[in-house]
Amino acid sequence: MSILTFPERGKWGKSAWRGNCSGHIYRALFEQYRPGVFVDPMVGSGTSVEVAAEMGIEAFGLDLHSGFNILRDSIVQAVGKEADMVFSHPPYHDMIVYSGQVWGLPHQDDLSRCVNDEDFLEKLQVALLNQREATKPGGMYGLLIGDLRRDGQYKSYQADCIARMPKAELASLVIKAQHNCVSDSKQYSKMKHMRIMHEYIILWSKPKGAAISVLADLATMAQQQAIALKATWKAVVRQALVSLGGKASLEAIYSKIADAAPDRLVGNENWQSKVRQTLQMIGKPIERGVWSIQ
Ligand SMILES: C[S@@+](CC[C@H](N)C(=O)[O-])C[C@H]1O[C@@H](n2cnc3c(N)ncnc32)[C@H](O)[C@@H]1O
Repeated sequence: MSILTFPERGKWGKSAWRGNCSGHIYRALFEQYRPGVFVDPMVGSGTSVEVAAEMGIEAFGLDLHSGFNILRDSIVQAVGKEADMVFSHPPYHDMIVYSGQVWGLPHQDDLSRCVNDEDFLEKLQVALLNQREATKPGGMYGLLIGDLRRDGQYKSYQADCIARMPKAELASLVIKAQHNCVSDSKQYSKMKHMRIMHEYIILWSKPKGAAISVLADLATMAQQQAIALKATWKAVVRQALVSLGGKASLEAIYSKIADAAPDRLVGNENWQSKVRQTLQMIGKPIERGVWSIQ
């Protein structure tokens, strides 16, 4: 089932640990994938490993609170072997701050203490690559992650995670209903948008013939991102032409894009040459300095 809902968290882990997850979720994952060896590198109060132990699965729980730092330490080295499943439940950016609040002193590498979204997503990608490396070829890696709305903006961390990992390895996306959030007590009658009541379980499978070198895999990801960027340029330039009536001078195209583009793009001197390169692909010169859609 690609929708999971468990109002009870069960007896596993600590109910007082903020942002913990129902043990039934892990049970459902283990029943589906039957891992022999399981690792949770952000184990929190230990819910996942308690469920695993009960099901006879060899399980390893690591966490910053007990000295393992997913941004600096290799999971596979900490555990001593690869696992069939490496599944984490990271903080959802700073929705709940862990170090210094749920445990111990503030820690600079705590994923709940990132300075902004980009910082959080960059670190989350490092964490996922670390998990991937610790997964046996043919095994599964993934995470439980929630989205959040801040200052009227919807931040879809699940979408960012999917975009930053190898497309060909995405294996499953499951919706988990959220129960008993602290925000349940707030007044929702005047909310502009629907209240977020779900999280996501994202699972990737590490291919059997995964590249011998991790770097080769990363090169594939960089290529995937370069292709997406090229496609974005094509879409932006095409839309500028469409909006200018199907044909326009280079100057008009530049100014249309500059109007709509964020400052960061226009501040980059290369952007006009990117537009010209893209026009060679999707446009047709109809007279000197004037382009139409191909
Ligand atoms: C959402 S909680 C996990 C809750 C767990 N699923 C449970 O049921 O108790 C996220 C955990 O990630 C840990 N964490 C944050 N940054 C980390 C890092 N750099 N390395 C390892 N663990 C980290 C936090 O200490 C926290 O325990």
